Amino acid sequence: MTQMQLLTYEAIPGLAPKSTDGDVAQTIDLPRPQLAASMPLMAALSLRASTREFSTAPLPLDMLGALLWAADGVNRPITGGRTAPSPHGFQEIDIYVALPNGVYRYDSPTHRLILKHAIDARNMTGYQDFVGTAPLDLVYVVHSSRLLTMPASQRDIFSAVTAGAISQNVSLFCASAGLATVVRGWINHRLLGDALSLNEDELPILAQTVGLTTGRDEESGPAKA
Ligand SMILES: Cc1cc2nc3c(=O)[nH]c(=O)nc-3n(C[C@H](O)[C@H](O)[C@H](O)COP(=O)(O)O)c2cc1C
Repeated sequence: MTQMQLLTYEAIPGLAPKSTDGDVAQTIDLPRPQLAASMPLMAALSLRASTREFSTAPLPLDMLGALLWAADGVNRPITGGRTAPSPHGFQEIDIYVALPNGVYRYDSPTHRLILKHAIDARNMTGYQDFVGTAPLDLVYVVHSSRLLTMPASQRDIFSAVTAGAISQNVSLFCASAGLATVVRGWINHRLLGDALSLNEDELPILAQTVGLTTGRDEESGPAKA
C-alpha cells in the first residue's frame, strides 16, 4: 500500500471556513502577463519541484494575474483557446482561487476573478500544515455538465488529465518566477465542495498551494512575474 493510500480523508471535527477581513471585491481585474519577461522553458523545467514551506506574505496582484494566465488563460483570443489543452476544447475545469479575502473563480475570457463566496476557505482545501496559512490555494473543479457528449467512461480520466495540464502550467510558472508550489490530491472533496458553494455538477479534484518561498518576504521583495 502506498503512502497516499494510507492517508485519512476524514473531515476534521470543528473545521470551518474563516471570515474575511475588510471589504471583499465582487470582481478583481487581473494585470495581463508580461510575456517577454520570463525564464527560458528548459531552465524552468530544471527548477520544477514540490515545496511544502510557504511564506504567509500575500502574492502581488501582477504575479497572481500572470500565474492564472499561465494556468489556463486565453492565449488565442480569436478562438478562445487556452494555455492548457482540454478534450474537444470543452474547458471543463474551472479554477477556484482561495484567497484570504474570499473564494473567487478565475474567468479566463475576461482575465478576472469573480467572487464566489466571501469567506477565507484556504484551510478547507486540504489537511497539511501549510494549508490555511499559505497565501493562495487553487482548486481545480470539474464542471461535469460540460462533458455530457463524451462517453461516461472517459469523463473522469480526461478531466483529470486536463487538471494535470493546468497544474503543470502553474508549477512551471512558479519555477520560473521563484515561487513555492505543491499540487495536492489529499483533499476532502465533499467538505471542499460545500466550502466553495459548488453545485451538484461540480467536483473539486485537485488543489495546488502557491506562495513566496520562506525567507523571501516583503522585505527582500517578491520575484518578478
Ligand atoms: C496527482 C498528484 C497528487 C499529489 N498530492 C499531493 C498531496 O496531497 N500532498 C503533497 O504534499 N504532495 C502531493 N503531490 C506531490 C508529490 O508528492 C510530488 O510530486 C512527489 O513527491 C515528487 O516530488 P517533486 O514534485 O518534488 O518531484 C501530488 C502529486 C500529484 C501528481
